[in-house]
Amino acid sequence: MRRFDLGRGGGEITFEIARLIAPDGVVTGVDMDEVKLALARDVAVDRGITNVEFRALNVNTWDEPVAYDVVFCRFLLQHLSQPVALLRRMWAAVRPGGVIVVEDADFDGWCCHPANDGFAFFLRTYSEVLARWGGDHATGRKLYAYFRDAGIADPDVGLVTPLHIADDGKALALSTLEATADAILAEGLATETELATARAQLAAFTADPHSLIAGAAGLPAVGAARALKNSGAGGRVA
Ligand SMILES: C[S@@+](CC[C@H](N)C(=O)[O-])C[C@H]1O[C@@H](n2cnc3c(N)ncnc32)[C@H](O)[C@@H]1O
Repeated sequence: MRRFDLGRGGGEITFEIARLIAPDGVVTGVDMDEVKLALARDVAVDRGITNVEFRALNVNTWDEPVAYDVVFCRFLLQHLSQPVALLRRMWAAVRPGGVIVVEDADFDGWCCHPANDGFAFFLRTYSEVLARWGGDHATGRKLYAYFRDAGIADPDVGLVTPLHIADDGKALALSTLEATADAILAEGLATETELATARAQLAAFTADPHSLIAGAAGLPAVGAARALKNSGAGGRVA
């Protein structure tokens, strides 16, 4: 069993996949950020995880037909100007009987309580940075259409509406704002003072044990789609 995790970033997903398919399966996590990959290699050594490997590459130029049983990506397509082209290559990369699985966010579906100016700042500026760099903050709702545009008929689709109060997921908004800080300033979307104020507001909100971040009613916070490749052409609901 060979699995491929595209745009693995600093997340835990590659390690979770490695745990699930041990001892015989191998998962390859890729990203264009060498720093994140170096940290991930260190974590793998620390935890004694031996069925995982990491490769630096840009997914826009990656092409490896018929190489994997499962090809996965989460929160990657939102960064890409040509998400459908990547889906086509992901589909080509799985062997007959293999599966591709994609999850992505839809930031219009995020809300918080109580209202917080730092959270609103994060949603506005992150979405704008994505747009200016060719991405899309509303990718989640488009996954089904993207699969069909890529020639993958009838993917299995679903929505996730998370609720974060005291779990690690609540810090995602703050960590993403911090990771995007340089881009927000470079794009002229805020002054350093405005950014620092928003960061402090969001940090205080995140530390409050009773504040919450959730997917809003009727809108997906995360869209997920997967398709199983038959031995013939085309896909079907997995
Ligand atoms: C939001 S993080 C997602 C991390 C992880 N998949 C998760 O779900 O926790 C997006 C990652 O995609 C990577 N990325 C963005 N564009 C990329 C590209 N063209 N090629 C490779 N990696 C890319 C970034 O470096 C970043 O680590």
